[in-house]
Amino acid sequence: MANMINITIDGKSCPAKEGEFILNVARANDIFVPAICYQTKCSPTLACRLCLVEADGKQVYACNAKSKDGMNVTVNTPNIETERRAIMEVYDVNHPLQCGVCDKSGECELQNYTLYMNVDKQNYAVKDVNRPTADWGVMKYDPGLCIVCEKCVTVCKDMIGSAALSTVKRGADALDKDYKANMPKDAYAMWNKLNKNLIGFDEDSCIDCGECIEVCPVGALVSSDFQYKSNAWELMKVPASNPYSSDCTLLYYEVKHNSIEKNTEDKIYRVTNESHYSSLSGAARFAFDFSNNATKDEVEFGKAVDAVKNADTILFNSFITNEEVKILQNIKEKTGAKLVNNDALRFKNFMKSYSEVSGNSFYNGTLEDIHNSNFLVSVGSYLKSDAPSAKYAFNNAITMNKGAGLYFHSMGDKHIEGFGKKGKNIETIANKPFTEDAILYFILDQFGKDLPLEVEEFLSSQRENRVKTVTEMIKEKVVETVVDEETGEEKTTTKMVPKKVSKEVEYTYTKLLDLIGSDESLLETIETMLAKKDTYSLIIGEDCITHPNSSNIAKLAALVEKYTEFKVIVPPTQTNTLGVSLLCDLDSEVSGKTVGYNVNADYQLSALGDGHLDMPVLNQQEGTFVNIDKKVIPTNAAILYNGYELNDIANEILDIKKENTIDYTAEIFDNIEFDKLENRYGNDMVEYRGYSLSQDSVDIRNINVVCGSNSLEIKENEYIIYNANPINQFNEFTAVANQLKDDIVALYISDSLKSALEVEVGDKINISSNNSELTLEIRVDVNLVGDISYIPTFDKTIDTKSLFDTTRFSIANLKKV
Ligand code: SF4
Ligand code: SF4
Ligand code: FES
Repeated sequence: MANMINITIDGKSCPAKEGEFILNVARANDIFVPAICYQTKCSPTLACRLCLVEADGKQVYACNAKSKDGMNVTVNTPNIETERRAIMEVYDVNHPLQCGVCDKSGECELQNYTLYMNVDKQNYAVKDVNRPTADWGVMKYDPGLCIVCEKCVTVCKDMIGSAALSTVKRGADALDKDYKANMPKDAYAMWNKLNKNLIGFDEDSCIDCGECIEVCPVGALVSSDFQYKSNAWELMKVPASNPYSSDCTLLYYEVKHNSIEKNTEDKIYRVTNESHYSSLSGAARFAFDFSNNATKDEVEFGKAVDAVKNADTILFNSFITNEEVKILQNIKEKTGAKLVNNDALRFKNFMKSYSEVSGNSFYNGTLEDIHNSNFLVSVGSYLKSDAPSAKYAFNNAITMNKGAGLYFHSMGDKHIEGFGKKGKNIETIANKPFTEDAILYFILDQFGKDLPLEVEEFLSSQRENRVKTVTEMIKEKVVETVVDEETGEEKTTTKMVPKKVSKEVEYTYTKLLDLIGSDESLLETIETMLAKKDTYSLIIGEDCITHPNSSNIAKLAALVEKYTEFKVIVPPTQTNTLGVSLLCDLDSEVSGKTVGYNVNADYQLSALGDGHLDMPVLNQQEGTFVNIDKKVIPTNAAILYNGYELNDIANEILDIKKENTIDYTAEIFDNIEFDKLENRYGNDMVEYRGYSLSQDSVDIRNINVVCGSNSLEIKENEYIIYNANPINQFNEFTAVANQLKDDIVALYISDSLKSALEVEVGDKINISSNNSELTLEIRVDVNLVGDISYIPTFDKTIDTKSLFDTTRFSIANLKKV
């Protein structure tokens, strides 16, 4: 942990972490330093040079100059003001005068700083070059507007982990030589660089998260869907939380009225976020364009009340607020109906086994812990689609903290291999399916201290001493005889010469590596990676929770928390999986008459509008979720909803009169009213969002873990298929969002499997597993490595899930049709 120091900025004493960038210290202390190109938590690009300040008498860039105790900083000096004004003049050179129609107008940093620096005349000029616009799928790039601040490049690489953007040559004329001699130096250097570059795009690496759109300070990168739809100042920002995954990231639904006649009918035009604090997945950003335009159908409402009252089982998923969950639990207590939610039950059982070993109610890590680590391990998570925020944090930590990481997943993923500096500090291990228990034992073997006897005995039984040949450099003494040319005298000289030698060394091997499907090279990799590492995080993914032996895996993960220095994070699988698992007595078996809340059943309450009675979509609801960080986080309604809600049904059944669903907020967890919950970040980087649940002690039970890897045995002509979440898809709602719609349900295979199966993209393939049979089209995923294929979809009309049982892996025959 960094030491706390004090620096002075413009006469104000500011506490700072030793080495913290001056810009961040200034911002945390509400001191304004002009800056365009710096993206918090990413590497400084040093493109704009606006953040010039004077520190202890020397001009430095505040975004990459580190604080030292007692440092004295001045934000404005006459020279710095001259530089900044010239920089803004340069930025305005050849910038098209299209603010009237530009999407960024009103929130454009170029506009703001041009006014702020009083740029009212132009001293500089260079011939413009043709800069054609480009269509990059979810976004459009207008190089005419681009100021080459490289924020998009940086966020894509340092945060998102895609590295899909880079600078490319602009092909412009060189600047007039006189400028170099006569204009302010930083302004010239900035311009000279800007004038050589534009931004290029690699489609195969892009995961359509849209974070580059968010960080672009001008209108150069805009959402294709939003382009020319609205001015920024017409939109009202509604703070809410990501409804699609358990990061529950803060987002803003930006809404305005949809028609002049009906002023009450708002529509969401776009979703934005606070990119300096947290990043959004593509689903959170682009899957917003549906809502339920229900009206109050009294007859159907009566039927719904009867159906719920008489239901033997209520089925639901975890895309639901805590308040609705509380309502369902109250209904259960009154009517005796079973509550069935397999997602939350699996997680609840997992955490129960975990807590019985760790002694605490929750895993001990948070997303911030991942960000702050320098050695990271992910086990059993198809990270880029299962838990985007955890993936961002993983990549960000490797990139920014000189970190290193191990990624264990049965499907090889080139996307993950590209993390960090050209993938040098990440090792991806395509472990055999269902060997997550062996991986966790391996982590205990490598990192555990004072392990319980039975665990230590098992690990010892797996160890064996082996010998390997290593090459090392030694210095060898070489004696040389030389003859003096003049005297003919012989002389001997001695010198040390470097020499490569091979030698045999003993090392400890563990047979766990055989189970995992790895080898001894992993031991060497870890040894190299661990140099100067002191902060550890472990992500336990969905494959562990759905593992045939998940209770065992949970206990092993808890042992890692207890007997190593790893912080452990178990991302809840759906948005409010954790909240549901805490608030409900869940049942496992479905019986009798069923009612489904956003789930198929005899009687269906549906926010998708395809059931018997309509319900509000999550963007039409106020309420709370429990997120990955074990915090109760509020979300808000962006769109008006005029139909009936679960609360109305509960009022009838429970014979009470609660006006709003959020009347239940004060009845759950810490009993805090909804309106008292904050949802914002402070300049000091502190998250003021909801409240944290307390970590309670849990009685420790018998550890009793076993290593019974259930490896999948495959025969000739059989292949393993994986039940993957598609990128940016989390449920049936994201599947119907216009910008993310699954146009085709397909089997995704690697290039190598395409050759092995002798198929082409677009061919039809018959997939038959033990559970069912389907014919789908073939697609190639260029990032996929190996022979495991996957079927990513939430399309309700094709039952791909039936190919699998309760786990994510299945064995199937694949036959070209
Ligand atoms: S596209 Fe936007 S964020 Fe990227 S370099 Fe250009 S101005 Fe900066
Ligand atoms: S959408 Fe996301 S992945 Fe694609 S270029 Fe932008 S930041 Fe990178
Ligand atoms: S913010 Fe420091 S150089 Fe741009």
